[in-house]
Amino acid sequence: MKILNIVGARPNFMKIAPLIESYRAYPHIEPVLVHTGQHYDEKMSDLFFRQLGIPEPDMNLDVGSGSHAVQTAAVMTAIEPVLQDQRPDAVLVVGDVNSTIACGLVAVKLGIPLIHVEAGLRSFDRSMPEEINRILTDSISEIFFCTEQSGVDNLLDEGIAPERIHLVGNVMIDTLLRNREKAEASGVLEEMGLRPEHYAVMTLHRPSNVDDPGAMARIIDAMDSIQRDMPLVFPIHPRTEANLQRFGLSARLHGMENLHLTPPSGYLDFLKLTANAAVVLTDSGGIQEESTILGVPCITLRENTERPVTVKVGANQLAGNDTTRIIEAYRRARAQERAGWAPPPFWDGKAAERTVAAINQWWEESYGKPRESGEVSASAGI
Ligand code: UD1
Repeated sequence: MKILNIVGARPNFMKIAPLIESYRAYPHIEPVLVHTGQHYDEKMSDLFFRQLGIPEPDMNLDVGSGSHAVQTAAVMTAIEPVLQDQRPDAVLVVGDVNSTIACGLVAVKLGIPLIHVEAGLRSFDRSMPEEINRILTDSISEIFFCTEQSGVDNLLDEGIAPERIHLVGNVMIDTLLRNREKAEASGVLEEMGLRPEHYAVMTLHRPSNVDDPGAMARIIDAMDSIQRDMPLVFPIHPRTEANLQRFGLSARLHGMENLHLTPPSGYLDFLKLTANAAVVLTDSGGIQEESTILGVPCITLRENTERPVTVKVGANQLAGNDTTRIIEAYRRARAQERAGWAPPPFWDGKAAERTVAAINQWWEESYGKPRESGEVSASAGI
């Protein structure tokens, strides 16, 4: 069984790493890895491959940046000949980025079954590009792997047959647990002069926060208050950095004495930073989940989350981008007990193993025994 696996943007890399490793237990599964090149900077891409031990991609489509239409179309145009040439039995996509829907759409139109890992998550906010990507990807996938019960419930509500849905846990948490010890060896705290549990970490890149100068300014006001209370580390996404300059807000950040403004962090340094932080503030999806497992209170700078289990267990608060609400949430988080909550079910480091076992079983049940290499699958009508 040949499975073509897609990665494109930074949050995909942590999700694919344990899957690629788990395929090794199934010698008849031949994984092919394709990087769309949606993220391409050393610090947004290559560094993650090296640190997570992900093999060099078999192909890089080098699509780069662009508007949503330009980027999505570029991925679609570039992946089509690859799928026609490779003739995989299935295409596996993770998460909700533009590369996910672009490759999924091309695959199903070529008759290739689509596997979606991290399926069913919904923010119910259609102004988020990722929400559109999630809904569309799930509407064309054949088999669904969910990180939390809400994902299962959302798919059932959308009419997906229960036998196609698998609650397997969180492959990104597999990566976190595997790298926890390695990350502790990072010297990043010493380099920045930080004491464990005496600093906060923030990340910001959502269009709703960083493409709007008003929202950006309100968040910066909150950052100013927080950094007066304790050091605030802010590894800055290229999109955010470009916008801060465009809006004339960079000088304000540079003037904050207790703010550590850094380039995007590698995986291990960032894991060390979050694991030892007093509080994490973010608009990322994945970081809400990582801080839940690391036992660090999280404040999400959004009005909603597609990962409601993080709020339900008590690890995460939603604060939007209003200055007062962020500061109030920060005070509550400071008063909160670390790790005072139970981890969500199946976030135990074995999600990739469960996923690959289920893929193998699904394949054997739906498409018969694994095909001989070179033979074209009946399902892949290409
Ligand atoms: C993308 C995903 C988002 C994910 C995020 C993680 C979509 C719709 N969005 O958002 O879900 O949470 O990745 O980072 O797919 N840039 C660089 N170097 C890079 C990559 C990007 O400089 O290696 C800059 C470019 O100016 C680019 C901008 O960042 O235009 C945005 O990149 P893009 O991939 O379009 O979206 P992200 O905001 O990163």
